[in-house]
Parts: sequence; structure tokens; C-alpha cells
Amino acid sequence: MNWTDIPGWFQWRSAQEEAALRFPDGSRFLEVGNFLGRSLCSLGDVVQRSGKRITVIGVDTCRGSGVEGVRGKDYHGTAVEEGGGTFAGTLHRNLIECGYADSISLIVADSLTASTFFADRSIDWVHLDARHDRDHVKADIIAWLPKIRVDGWLSGDDYDEIKWPEVVSAVNEVLPDARPWSTSQWRWVARPV
Ligand SMILES: C[S@@+](CC[C@H](N)C(=O)[O-])C[C@H]1O[C@@H](n2cnc3c(N)ncnc32)[C@H](O)[C@@H]1O
Repeated sequence: MNWTDIPGWFQWRSAQEEAALRFPDGSRFLEVGNFLGRSLCSLGDVVQRSGKRITVIGVDTCRGSGVEGVRGKDYHGTAVEEGGGTFAGTLHRNLIECGYADSISLIVADSLTASTFFADRSIDWVHLDARHDRDHVKADIIAWLPKIRVDGWLSGDDYDEIKWPEVVSAVNEVLPDARPWSTSQWRWVARPV
């Protein structure tokens, strides 16, 4: 199996490639919101191709985001239902079948809870792609911001005024220094204080 075989919403491969080029051996990348592993397995592939020793961690409740967005859709509901209330089994199996059983670690937990497992300034790149409503995006940013190392990146998906206006307003409010990046992504760079 290859990451391209996994269903999902992933459009920031160029951002992953930039990260693998930019950060050195010993770095740590973390993605919040993995669904069935499309973007996470792509990240595993990009890191493997870089030849660098970079730790990759995924965080997901594996219970879906529920109804969200301007279309009021439950995008993950079928996968949750098919797994009897969780798609953790499918996500983990996909990581294994793509060859990342040992190189990608999975934390099945809520984003805010998972953030408390990490020391401040201990992650080089955190990418947010969990629930897309304003309050959750703001809470995710506030939780993960202190975890980013100096010169590290905090970024997220769906920086799109038409499709996900709440993502755009949350990012602009909490992180006015964030900038559009890659394909419909936003990124904030942790400058030394
Ligand atoms: C848009 S999907 C992720 C798509 C994935 N990055 C891909 O490439 O296909 C959002 C994911 O966020 C997860 N999620 C929603 N709220 C969460 C939370 N509070 N903490 C952790 N994960 C959450 C959902 O379970 C869902 O899998």
C-alpha cells in the first residue's frame, strides 16, 4: 500500500517536502488530525526519502470531527460507524501496510490532551488538521504554540475564506503573523523572543 491509496483530504505535499529539506536530523514533526493516514503516510514517505532521522507523530481521537463547515457535513461519520465507533484500527493498519509501523507513532487522544504530553519548545513542526470550527482551531493553536521550537513552524490546513471561513478568522485573530502557505495552508514561524 502507498499513501495515495488512502482516502482523505491532503493537499500540502509541497509543505512536507519543504519541512524535510529545512529541518535537520533529530527533528520532530507532529500532525494533528490524521483520519485514515493519507497525509501522515505521505509525511512518512517524504521523511524516508530525505534520508534524515526525523521523528513523525500523529494525533487523532479516531472518532471524527462530527458535523462541520459551511456544508454542515459529517465527513468522517461513515468510517467511525464502520469501525464500531472508532477508525483507529484502520488508521493503524494503513500505517503498517505503508511500511511505517516503526517510524510513525500514533497518539489516539484529543488534540488538547495530547499537547500536554510534550515539553515546551520540543517540536519542530506541528501541522493542524483537526476540527475546523473557530473555537477548536483557536484552542488547537493556543495549545500547540508553546510546543514549537525557535525557528520551528506551526501550520494548518484549509486556509480558505470560501470553504472554511472559520479557519481563516481563527488563525488571523490568534496569529496575525501567520501567512498563507503551500496549497490552502497557513504557517507561522516561531521567532526567537
Ligand atoms: C480533516 S480530517 C484529517 C484529514 C487527514 N489529514 C488527511 O490527510 O486525510 C480531521 C481529523 O481530525 C480528527 N479530530 C477532530 N477533532 C479532534 C480533536 N479534538 N483532537 C484530535 N483529533 C481530532 C478527526 O477524527 C479527523 O480524523
